[in-house]
Amino acid sequence: MNTQTRSRRFFLKAASLLGVSAALGPADLLAVPNTASTARWAHKGVRPLSIASANGLESTARAMHLLRDGRDTLDAVIAGVNIVEDDPDDQTVGYGGLPNEDGEVELDSCVMHGPTGRGGGVAALRNIKNPSLVARRVMERSDHVLLVGEGALHFARAHGFREENLLTDAARERWLRWKETLSNEDDWLPPHGFEDRDLGMNHPDMQEESRREAGWRDERARPTGTINCLAVDANGDISGVTTTSGLAFKIPGRVADSPIIGAGLYVDNAVGAAGSTGRGEANLLALSSFLIVERMRMGDHPTDACLHACRRIAEQTKMKRLLDENGRLKFNVNFYALDKDGRHGAASVWPGKQYAVNDGNEKSHLLDCAALYES
Ligand code: GLY
Repeated sequence: MNTQTRSRRFFLKAASLLGVSAALGPADLLAVPNTASTARWAHKGVRPLSIASANGLESTARAMHLLRDGRDTLDAVIAGVNIVEDDPDDQTVGYGGLPNEDGEVELDSCVMHGPTGRGGGVAALRNIKNPSLVARRVMERSDHVLLVGEGALHFARAHGFREENLLTDAARERWLRWKETLSNEDDWLPPHGFEDRDLGMNHPDMQEESRREAGWRDERARPTGTINCLAVDANGDISGVTTTSGLAFKIPGRVADSPIIGAGLYVDNAVGAAGSTGRGEANLLALSSFLIVERMRMGDHPTDACLHACRRIAEQTKMKRLLDENGRLKFNVNFYALDKDGRHGAASVWPGKQYAVNDGNEKSHLLDCAALYES
């Protein structure tokens, strides 16, 4: 049974539970309200929409293309991020992603399907370039929500996913330069004439800070890139996906927010969806995507809900090494959200970030994220 059939079945079941005639169209139905706070999310007929992190211009365009063809929102967002997972030039997601400290690419992803309230994820998955597809398979073909490492790879193999070397020459070279410039105490030497700027570390901030500290602040040094993509269709059905190669040069086995439902992604079909990019450790400690959806349930606009999550992270971060001399966060985290009414927004800790939006045009466009700090 495909997702569309299942979602139709779910829709009819919800209609009958509510005592509503199945002859009514989707736009006439409530979206399975089960509390007073969600009752106000009566479906009003939504303009389909897809949003993503800034690397999702093509992803949101593809997602909307599929929605126009009547495809399920989960099909749409996954097909969208597959473009970036397959792209060797995006070094923060899928094939071509920057590896861990041993030079091995380890990928994380999770998906959520609003109409059925289901989700799945994989973490520290090696050799499979589309972890979002494996995450979906975990959701659909296992009784589990999250598989990691060897177990995730074993499951992917069982389902016929093709294994391949995900480390491109460009990613390997960047990893090698990182390893060769970490310390003067080891035996790894950069090539003759190599300078830090070749790692993208000639930013003015970089000259004042140690490489390690600067790494938190400037994503060019150790990206935590990631793509998050969310979509709502004309029925008000919502899905989302987050997929990443994680923090560049991480300790093998490090897993942060991206594959964790509630942290890197959360979808509640009665309310909306949220997802994240940026320093995943901070988000893991705050479960921000869940928080953002709950804030929207209470009436926040998506932008305000995202800002709330940034503020919460700033309030709960106590470690001095993560704070600057003014007590502000040294790192960035970015949140994206849409609600069932088709409203959307995004916010980052630091200004200068954008997010991708497609509300029905052939091409997607970028909008500025709100920011917690002015500069
Ligand atoms: N947010 C992506 C990561 O930290 O791995």
